[in-house]
Amino acid sequence: MTGNEIRQKFLEYFRERGHAIIPSASLIPENDPTVLFTTAGMHPLVPYLLGEPHPMGKRLADAQKCVRTGDIDEVGDNRHLTFFEMMGNWSLGDYFKKEAIEWSYGFLTKVCGIAPQRLSVTVFAGDSDAPRDDESVAIWQAQFKKDGLETGLGNRIFSYPKAKNWWGPAGQTGPCGPDTEMFYDTLNLPDPKEHAPNWTGTEPCHPNCDCGRYVEVWNDVFMQFNKTADGKFEPLAKPNVDTGMGLERMAMVLQGKPTVFETELFVPLIEEIERRSGKRYDESGETGRAMRIIADHLKTATFIIGDPRGVGPSNVDQGYIVRRLIRRAVRFGRQLEIPGAFTKDIAEKVIGMYVGAYPELAKNRERILAELTAEEEKFSRTLERGMAEALKLKANSWSEVPGATAFYLYESFGFPKELTEEVLGMKVNAVEWDAEMKRHQDTSRAGSEQKFAGGLADHSEVVVRYHTATHLLHAALRQVLGAHVEQRGSNITHERMRFDFSHPQKMTPEEIKKVEDIVNEQIAKDLPVGFAMMTVEEAKALHAIGLFEDKYATLGNKIKVYSVGDDARGYFSREICGGPHVEHTGLIGKFKIVKEEASSAGVRRIKATVS
Ligand code: ALA
Repeated sequence: MTGNEIRQKFLEYFRERGHAIIPSASLIPENDPTVLFTTAGMHPLVPYLLGEPHPMGKRLADAQKCVRTGDIDEVGDNRHLTFFEMMGNWSLGDYFKKEAIEWSYGFLTKVCGIAPQRLSVTVFAGDSDAPRDDESVAIWQAQFKKDGLETGLGNRIFSYPKAKNWWGPAGQTGPCGPDTEMFYDTLNLPDPKEHAPNWTGTEPCHPNCDCGRYVEVWNDVFMQFNKTADGKFEPLAKPNVDTGMGLERMAMVLQGKPTVFETELFVPLIEEIERRSGKRYDESGETGRAMRIIADHLKTATFIIGDPRGVGPSNVDQGYIVRRLIRRAVRFGRQLEIPGAFTKDIAEKVIGMYVGAYPELAKNRERILAELTAEEEKFSRTLERGMAEALKLKANSWSEVPGATAFYLYESFGFPKELTEEVLGMKVNAVEWDAEMKRHQDTSRAGSEQKFAGGLADHSEVVVRYHTATHLLHAALRQVLGAHVEQRGSNITHERMRFDFSHPQKMTPEEIKKVEDIVNEQIAKDLPVGFAMMTVEEAKALHAIGLFEDKYATLGNKIKVYSVGDDARGYFSREICGGPHVEHTGLIGKFKIVKEEASSAGVRRIKATVS
């Protein structure tokens, strides 16, 4: 089965079981200051997992674009990816463990045709927060039994503590609970304790062993708790199911390939890199590693730039990650001696491979290619300047390159240690280099901890106030500047809101003042804020505004429209939105625009505070 087939079969399977298929949310989370990217299928669904009604009902399924950049510098082995697709099915207070496990098992064995003998599963071992998940053990036993397999704890079903079998916001707040993970035995050995060849560890093998024999393919999370800021686990009024199946891994398993890079989700990219570099892909060598990095990074950059809320390379937030991804790819392109610019050709392949499932890539094709090419050219010039700097250093009578010098070349010109060694014909002092890298990593980790922690939407009060202020600002901008104003992006932290919108020129100080005054007037009126569920046609008839209206529209059914105002005083704003919002505008506080600037061509950016 190809990736496209797996995606389609998964959605079909859950549609047949009463699930509404929802579109992938943006890779760039809206109104969530805790993460830069959507990191799991459940991420955009957090408000619903905490109890908000979802417009599409209580059973949902999707394929979600995800980016995890925790360790960009580790990508290049044959397992880590920065972009991946997560297939998921959700029960929002509807079905629970029995159906979830039964359907996971059914999809794996019946639809994917995996022999039950190939599967092992894990469950939560229990601790002071929650007991051992014996319920899941019993459900799994019944599943395997249908296929004639006798199982039990320690026999195909294994239990682990929280570190392995508990899912939720990493160290943060939000919905969480015990999970059960499904593993595929790539070696199909009769002895479950036997390792993959070349493993040197001493403990017997088991599903969570790192030897590579078992590959995790799916995770069913049973969300029964909300972890609060003070570390308590509060039971949720209605437990939910959140599942995640990795599309790339599943393709690898079903195609019998040793790595994801040998599936059709990567082969066309690797082949293009082979063609451009005139080199052959080798799994274990440096050439293979460079090719994997280029393929992975440019796929991810293509998806981020090509997202409906796309972001191009820059020095901050998501843009910084895009820049790092492109630059790392270009550097490895140099290592492979690829002549000329190549990033846009790889992006073209990515677009072609994924356009069926993600039409936004075709829509944003020009932007993707232009941003990639511009960054590639810019970075190539930086590399050249670095080369000139490095060559000057040849005048020194060193026997090795001081760590600080090598690090300077690395930081200022993107020179990896190996390139410096090659240009100067001598080794870099390894101890000094490691010390510099460690210092650098500690600093950047401290700076980005909150952003990379993999946390979830923060629905604390101040964020909610900002969120409602965004709606007021949006409506006020349309009043003052005109109906051409459309939201292009929004980001909220505890300190400020940022709002991007389409408008061809800089706002005048008078316009800014007027917008600010209008928002504050609406706050002073203390208007009620509420939502109604309606069809797209009804929402349009009410002139509701909102992002991705067309995506919602293709789903038919009902959508959630938030209104500010009431019949007596008129409606100031009506917007398609998932919430949450304050109950009345008086709770927002004083609104102030602190900056108005260009964001990109035809898009302005406002930064504002509430206090
Ligand atoms: N949210 C769960 C995961 O990411 C399914 O593994």
